[in-house]
Amino acid sequence: MSGEAKRSAPSFACKEAGEGMPTHVAIIMDGNGRWAAQRGLPRFEGHRRGVEAIRRAVRTAGDLGIRYLTVYSFSAENWRRPAQEVSDLMGLLKRFVRHDLAELHANNIRVRIIGEREGLASDIRLLLDEAEQLTRGNTGLTLVIAFNYGGRQEIVSAMRALARRVQEGTLDPADIDMDTVGAALDTHGIPDPDLVIRTSGEQRVSNFLTWQTAYAEFVFLPCFWPDFDEATFRSAVDEYCRRDRRFGGLSVRAG
Ligand code: IPE
Ligand code: IPE
Ligand code: MG
Repeated sequence: MSGEAKRSAPSFACKEAGEGMPTHVAIIMDGNGRWAAQRGLPRFEGHRRGVEAIRRAVRTAGDLGIRYLTVYSFSAENWRRPAQEVSDLMGLLKRFVRHDLAELHANNIRVRIIGEREGLASDIRLLLDEAEQLTRGNTGLTLVIAFNYGGRQEIVSAMRALARRVQEGTLDPADIDMDTVGAALDTHGIPDPDLVIRTSGEQRVSNFLTWQTAYAEFVFLPCFWPDFDEATFRSAVDEYCRRDRRFGGLSVRAG
């Protein structure tokens, strides 16, 4: 099949080529503010509609058989925004967990939260703990919510934890390898993302999964996050399926 014919085929290139779908998709959900501005609406309305897009993305991830979906909800740098917007975003997270937790649980979804918990209001911390505790035994999709998350901050915390173990005498510096570092990160036990999607047209990482994305495939989409729907998600996965991942080696496809 020619490249062009493959591109227009409705089903996934992965399946056609007999290759794997992504196990872990991570999304930088960007463009809520611009979506609202385009419509003359307050930024809050963009964030509110953004939560709807998260619900759609969770459903689609489940339908596609993706095992891990990470959503970047609030970065360690987002505190730089006006107090009202920060408070709106905190309110939306609380509402999302309160409103959706029972349904996520009923759908066998396991929730994991990554990011710095300290510095968050105690009611939010309790909710995040509750979401993880309630769903910890679930075996379906793992929904990873990156909240108050920064990739560099996560690495710094991990380095501190390892340094403490060295100081206590329970870790020999010579034994520190990539697995040791990976296990000290918030994402321990979660495979690295295969695919990172960013909406809104920006083409940057913004401190997201710094360690974990070493060999991820990136798909940048022009649409704003509130417009992200099943078709957009599927097209990004399809784009991923056409990529040739080499991990520094030689192409498997070329044979
Ligand atoms: C993404 O949309 C949501 C968060 C970062 C919390 P933005 O709020 O960044 O929207 P833009 O980028 O200003 O359009
Ligand atoms: C990244 O978006 C953070 C989230 C999506 C939560 P930003 O809108 O904060 O990123 P920058 O500031 O444009 O890099
Ligand atoms: Mg933005």
